[in-house]
Amino acid sequence: MRAQIVAMTSENLDMDAIKRAGDILKAGGLVAFPTETVYGLGGNALDPQASMKIYAAKGRPSDNPLIVHIAEIDQLAKIATEIPQGAKILAEKYWPGPLTMILPKADIVPKETTGGLDSVAVRFPSDRIAQELIKAAGGFVAAPSANTSGRPSPTMAEHVEEDLGDAIDMIIDGGQVGIGLESTIVDVPVVLRPGYISLEMLKETLGDVRMDRGLLITDNSVHPKAPGMKYRHYAPKADLSIVEGTEEQVIDCINRLSADAEKKGLKVGVIATNETKDRYAHADVFSIGSREEEETIAHHLYEVLRNFDDDRVDLIYSEAFYTPRMGQAIMNRLLKAAGHKIINAQEEKK
Ligand code: TXA
Ligand code: MG
Repeated sequence: MRAQIVAMTSENLDMDAIKRAGDILKAGGLVAFPTETVYGLGGNALDPQASMKIYAAKGRPSDNPLIVHIAEIDQLAKIATEIPQGAKILAEKYWPGPLTMILPKADIVPKETTGGLDSVAVRFPSDRIAQELIKAAGGFVAAPSANTSGRPSPTMAEHVEEDLGDAIDMIIDGGQVGIGLESTIVDVPVVLRPGYISLEMLKETLGDVRMDRGLLITDNSVHPKAPGMKYRHYAPKADLSIVEGTEEQVIDCINRLSADAEKKGLKVGVIATNETKDRYAHADVFSIGSREEEETIAHHLYEVLRNFDDDRVDLIYSEAFYTPRMGQAIMNRLLKAAGHKIINAQEEKK
């Protein structure tokens, strides 16, 4: 089976195609669709068989729970038995939008969807195509990112087609997504996965919010609370290292390391920014965006990692991106892609 692909935009919805997609989901099939964060691989969240199909299509372990997407706030009470005050405040402020909340699950949500847990992750996306599809499917769509498990999340329909084109029924192509990193996950008051909605924004809204310790400690002594965060995700095929230091130190260090690798006959890729891209001499250089506009870095991260897979480089060196607002989310994904390999440019020189 090859997935049927239909294209539309949020401004110009193809309601016939959305109805067909909704019917596929109601009948237990799988449809990939755009959201404001990344593309999702949708199945009916209340159908255990559909959730099993999602795990199989992605090659994902079935103890890694799925996010249930809704398109009307009233639907929340049908799938969560209790909504704490803090969650109500966050829903009011950030929904629809790139925020997922963990809540105690109602009986109608099968354990297959929640990876065996008694809690359910819920998100109300702002993307109009996603909203209409969820409504057409009956209100509850389970959707992990629409990539093969372990590959970077898809930010374009072409990425979905590459990974899952043979395994699902339909792909809705809504063009390139807006944000490019997955939603922020909160189990009030703990952030389980950083995203576009930053810790600072959440603190402003709720006061007491903190990062899951399992995200900050990477030596395996503390496990992250979101099962998915323990897997080595977003991994490019090449060996990726992140180089830290001042701008000059980093450029210097990457130039030295890539010249050495080149001498050994290896092909090197560098993840740079518009500000630095012309200063690398011995590599296949991709500019990820501009430090002046940190959204552009988040927007292109997964695309750049996929491009390097296509280019078949052996090694990738990336600058670090501790930008003020989205730095936590960007570095969380980049560090995972690098298996936490960090080179200190200052020490490397000695
Ligand atoms: O932006 C997003 O959230 C995208 C789009 C498609 O909405 N979806 C997404 O789903 O990123 P996925 O499956 O790739 O990531 C879901 C994460 C996993 O790390 C999973 O372990 C965690 O959410 N999760 C799901 N249910 C959970 C629960 N009940 N408790 C703790 N973590 C949970
Ligand atoms: Mg994912």
